[in-house]
Amino acid sequence: MTSGSFAGMAASSPATGSVTAIPRAAVRSQGSTAQLPQDHPLLTGLTADSALLNQYRGGRNSAGEITRPHRRPVWFMRQAGRSLPEYRALREGTTMLDSCLDPALASEITLQPVRRHDVDAAIFFSDIVIPLRLAGIDVEIQPGVGPVLGSPVRTRADVEALPTLDDAAFAPITEAVRRTVAELGSTPLIGFAGAPFTLAAYMVEGKPSRDHLGPRTMMHADPDTWNALAAWAAEVSGRFMRAQLMAGASAAQLFDSWAGSLGREDYARHVLSHSAEAFTHVQDLGGTTPAGHRVTAPLIHFGTGTGEILDLLRVAGADVVGVDYRLNLAEATRRVGAETPLQGNIDPALLPADWPVLEKHVRAVIAAGSGAAGHVLNLGHGVPPETDPEVLTRVVSLIHEIGYED
Ligand code: CP3
Repeated sequence: MTSGSFAGMAASSPATGSVTAIPRAAVRSQGSTAQLPQDHPLLTGLTADSALLNQYRGGRNSAGEITRPHRRPVWFMRQAGRSLPEYRALREGTTMLDSCLDPALASEITLQPVRRHDVDAAIFFSDIVIPLRLAGIDVEIQPGVGPVLGSPVRTRADVEALPTLDDAAFAPITEAVRRTVAELGSTPLIGFAGAPFTLAAYMVEGKPSRDHLGPRTMMHADPDTWNALAAWAAEVSGRFMRAQLMAGASAAQLFDSWAGSLGREDYARHVLSHSAEAFTHVQDLGGTTPAGHRVTAPLIHFGTGTGEILDLLRVAGADVVGVDYRLNLAEATRRVGAETPLQGNIDPALLPADWPVLEKHVRAVIAAGSGAAGHVLNLGHGVPPETDPEVLTRVVSLIHEIGYED
């Protein structure tokens, strides 16, 4: 574990909050340089020059040259899910986590929104708590509630009793990813995992919570237990992402959905190093294309309400920063630097608005993102279940129509 050094660096100037001085290269250099399999879609040439990867690379092709992609890339967080009638039909009678662990079902659900909306990426249908289930922890997703654990993890003894996760347990994930990429062709699959804070927040509370008081108390009152828990979460999430990338995903996103409940100092001191540790499992994972160019799978880091820590999301080891709907993308670029590609941030609240209102907003998001080296359109959080899927399809075609002419 390398966590301690980051906590130390972040702590060195708590009054000024000058944690941005942590060199990203220091995080990078700990990364694995492991090779993806040679038949991986990123290395066969299928996805390396997709519009999505071009923008994640800051507007560069696989040879490293600045190029415009053939269209403006867009995908939606939670594009696979309850907004689609075909999803509701397939899921009938199967619990959420059982669906995730049925390779044929998970693969089909992942493909549904790609077929329907013509989005530029598939997001793997799974859940951030799947590694807990695979490790043998009693966890369920209760409809309309979210993840619920049989026994919350609150004491040092609870953390010490956490099971180890065997690599063989990822078999249904690997199988689902393989089936999915075989169908996707040149559309990249994005893998993902929950960041240590968001995952540990569910583990400590045992259920969804508004303020995340449990984990925030623990990191101050019992930092050793907190660090042990967050390190466990970083490891299972890092390996979950790695399993998806090795099996065929071309990019991976770390979701720190609840990081916005932390102040900047708490994030820097108690969380950043653990998220960096999760990323080390997938850092610089790549290989050589048929044309002889070295390519790696881009890493995206997203959370909600993270305006105050946006630069730290990048410092943790991501190539791309996902921005929620609260922060204008031009301001996001000011905070993370023009060289950082961005993802986001159409406000999900505008999806039911009259089309001219929504269209104006989408155009404004594109304009605000134009100062970043790359920009992948997305929502500023997931698709609300009540969304009319036809509106999403229309947003995708608008974005593709706008292109790069203006
Ligand atoms: O297209 C996609 O993004 C699908 C893949 C996906 C799911 N969960 C499927 C899902 C992804 C990337 C996630 C990640 C996830 N899971 C996060 C991070 C993203 C975010 O939204 O902030 C979080 C916090 C979770 C935990 C979780 N799982 C919650 C809070 C819920 C909602 C509970 C509810 O019913 O309101 C889930 C369940 C879940 N995960 C659903 C889906 C499609 C809905 C369950 C269903 O359809 O029955």
